[in-house]
Amino acid sequence: MSIYNNYHGGALCTESRPQANLLVIFGASGDLTRRKLMPALYQLYRRGLLHEDSYIVGCARSALSQTQFLSGLRGFLSDEEPERLEHFLQRLSYLHLAYDNLSDYARLAHHIESIQAKVDSELNHLFYLATPASLYPVIVPMLHRSGLSVEDYSGKPWRHVVLEKPFGKDLESAEALDRMLHQSLQERQIYRIDHYLGKETVQNILMLRFANIIFEPIWNSSYIEHVQISTAESVGVERRAGYYDAAGQLRDMFQNHMLAMLSLVAMEPPAQFEAEALRDEQVKLIRAIRPLPIESIGQHLIRAQYGPGEIAGQALPGYLEEENVPAQSRTETYVAAKLFIDNWRWRGVPFYLRTGKRLSRKLSEIAITFKKPPHSIFAQLDIENLQRDVLVLNVQPDEGMSLSIQAKQPGPKLCIGHLNLEFSYAQQFGAQMPDAYERLLLDCMLGDQTLFIRSDAIAAAWKLLTPILQAWQRSDKQQLPGCSCALHHYQAGSEGPAAAEKLFTQWRSLNDC
Ligand code: BG6
Repeated sequence: MSIYNNYHGGALCTESRPQANLLVIFGASGDLTRRKLMPALYQLYRRGLLHEDSYIVGCARSALSQTQFLSGLRGFLSDEEPERLEHFLQRLSYLHLAYDNLSDYARLAHHIESIQAKVDSELNHLFYLATPASLYPVIVPMLHRSGLSVEDYSGKPWRHVVLEKPFGKDLESAEALDRMLHQSLQERQIYRIDHYLGKETVQNILMLRFANIIFEPIWNSSYIEHVQISTAESVGVERRAGYYDAAGQLRDMFQNHMLAMLSLVAMEPPAQFEAEALRDEQVKLIRAIRPLPIESIGQHLIRAQYGPGEIAGQALPGYLEEENVPAQSRTETYVAAKLFIDNWRWRGVPFYLRTGKRLSRKLSEIAITFKKPPHSIFAQLDIENLQRDVLVLNVQPDEGMSLSIQAKQPGPKLCIGHLNLEFSYAQQFGAQMPDAYERLLLDCMLGDQTLFIRSDAIAAAWKLLTPILQAWQRSDKQQLPGCSCALHHYQAGSEGPAAAEKLFTQWRSLNDC
């Protein structure tokens, strides 16, 4: 790895460039590879961040020729300099294999040796499993048995394995997955992706909190009244019902992306921006979330499913009418929760998290609402007239940040009003935001696990959520006495279920008293 420090447009930048490596993608004919991985790798290549001796091998079950594989990718890659694209594509090769056939892994090993023979440097190997999670217990042991993922004691050259969620469907299955992984790999070799951690704006939470002095002293229950983390999508289940109907929004978005954002917003400062230090703090934070009381769960967390509706005048089907969704499905497409963190810093501060599909628009944001000043010195303005200051971190789509404060409006009268201080990435930096996968793929190649999930954080998240999933399941089978597990409904294209609003306003009004 080479590290460069330089000044760029007034900013001090550190850029690390990976050594030569070989990336093997399983599931290479799939959507994730085409839409995300290849465009991200190509961007890295264009920016000079792929070592010139790096190669990519696509593997999948489809019997594609090399030409068919490349032409399947071309539609997702474009360049104003076509020769550059051709040069990149020359680094790609395709191998069709059966994931459960050991002799196919011997063929892969042979192919890798032939690539290694072409280059002077010793290649590091990255195995990316862009396949359904059901194939992990097949591929990971095969990589081990064939010797492909085996590192020597020094860990050099390295062998890394990258996995996408879901990491289990509850605590028990996540622990079983983890045991399976650790039979073949060491934790330092495992890169579990949560693509939200690769988003610029999510990483900026750390920069904002820990590279400035002004926020941290007030980042606690003495000054913050509540925090809202919201992720809304206008898309529905699309063509993913096979996966989504068995998962639901709690597993698909809440267990990972929502809790990842919460952990960055609320964790204690790590001693360094380094994998173990940062991930230790994340786990501590998730473990400090107060378990939700199952007997009164509906007062703390609600689930809902979208019904028919419309967005921008276009009529949309309800979840139950979507392709391949079972007519009786009780899968939730929306979750809202009110969480408390039982530690010194956050005692008594509600964290309100909500996430849903088929809402009116796509939006992810974190809003931190500060308390009112303790006393109004302005005789004419009661404390009730003073508004709360709000810091909003816009994760997407209008990446940026805003701080809404109180200010005097010009004129002889004493008028107080909102002043919005705004920062937009697009206006400030002009450029398009890099895709999260660029950063994450680069980090895998650099051997930096900081933005990847460690197994104990996954277990802590499942420990919190598994009792809820079990209560939902029980209540769906037989009406569970005393469990307020109702499945609420909302219209496609709306702001979500009324029950979620109530969850929020209830504590809001309590707080106002
Ligand atoms: C994925 C979920 O992890 O994140 C999808 O499986 C969801 O259901 C997606 O649509 C949202 O990601 P983004 O980056 O578009 O907010």
